[in-house]
Amino acid sequence: MSQDMSEENLPDRPAHEGGSQVATAENPFADPGFPAHQPRRQDIDEKAARSSERTVAFLFTVSMLATLGFIASFVVIPIDKIVYIWPLGHISALNFALGMTLGVSLFAIGAGAVHWARTLMSDVEVADDRHAIAASPEVRAKVMAEFATGTGESQIGRRKLIRNTMLGALTLVPLSGVFLLRDLGPLPEDKLRHTLWSKGRLLINQNTNKPLRPEDVAVGSLTFAVPEGLEEEQHDYQEQLAKAALMIVRIQPNDIKDKKSRDWAHQGILAFSKICTHVGCPISLYEQQTHHVLCPCHQSTFDLSDGARVIFGPAGHALPQLHISVNGEGYLEALGDFEEPVGPAFWERG
Ligand code: FES
Repeated sequence: MSQDMSEENLPDRPAHEGGSQVATAENPFADPGFPAHQPRRQDIDEKAARSSERTVAFLFTVSMLATLGFIASFVVIPIDKIVYIWPLGHISALNFALGMTLGVSLFAIGAGAVHWARTLMSDVEVADDRHAIAASPEVRAKVMAEFATGTGESQIGRRKLIRNTMLGALTLVPLSGVFLLRDLGPLPEDKLRHTLWSKGRLLINQNTNKPLRPEDVAVGSLTFAVPEGLEEEQHDYQEQLAKAALMIVRIQPNDIKDKKSRDWAHQGILAFSKICTHVGCPISLYEQQTHHVLCPCHQSTFDLSDGARVIFGPAGHALPQLHISVNGEGYLEALGDFEEPVGPAFWERG
């Protein structure tokens, strides 16, 4: 294709005539141009075109209904309702309904637009040579004329059913975002103050599902634990797991700088909440030389050898520590619940 930059050379011919050049001494590569345009069934059969129009309108209508379903779900489904959905397991009914309806709403708009473009809009190929960025008034007038032509070819003026349903779908879909603002409340109040941890509850290795003994925790390793009695089948499993998830490390006792931390540890084994105090991501990256853990979401870094205080990043509080010991049978156990709220509970801490 020519790289001529002058505005006079903008193509003003039907594209299927465009580009064809024979090979010359200066330009040895022949350009065959565009193949002849093949009309689609909808181009020659108004009945087929009407059928495509109805399909597009149907998809836009589905989008509208899905958006209304999104809003209805938001209003009707309780925030703490859990349902079992195969193969996802126990999940929040509200999150599932919102995800499904918003997904269908956006997908139906996209599918409607694609079907419209493929069956009814002009499919004549066009060529447009490169030209100067600043357009002259003549070029702008020409663009506006081409826009008007394109609008005519899209049949948006003629196909009022498509136009009206598309406008309906595009008008309704932003409402989903407005309704999501409800998630800014209500505050969790004291819900993050209490977890399943209590005096005498064993620490269960989250990978093996077995109670942990001190000898299972090697210096330099990072182990994840959950409270004894937390079962996947229970209806609030996800909520309880999210609050009680524990991160266990073993540090040489002499390397533990914070006195309370040392007192709450057992032979250098420290147990901290795994939930970041910034906005609640699970922490998982441990650097054994420095005893730092890093939250992957916004890089908050906590020093586990110094009471898990924040040494970098946006988190505002140290990770809550769990007071642990060993029971008569040699298993690690909790000596109570966390003393402060887990997760991003800045609104409760004053
Ligand atoms: S959630 Fe951990 S740093 Fe933001």
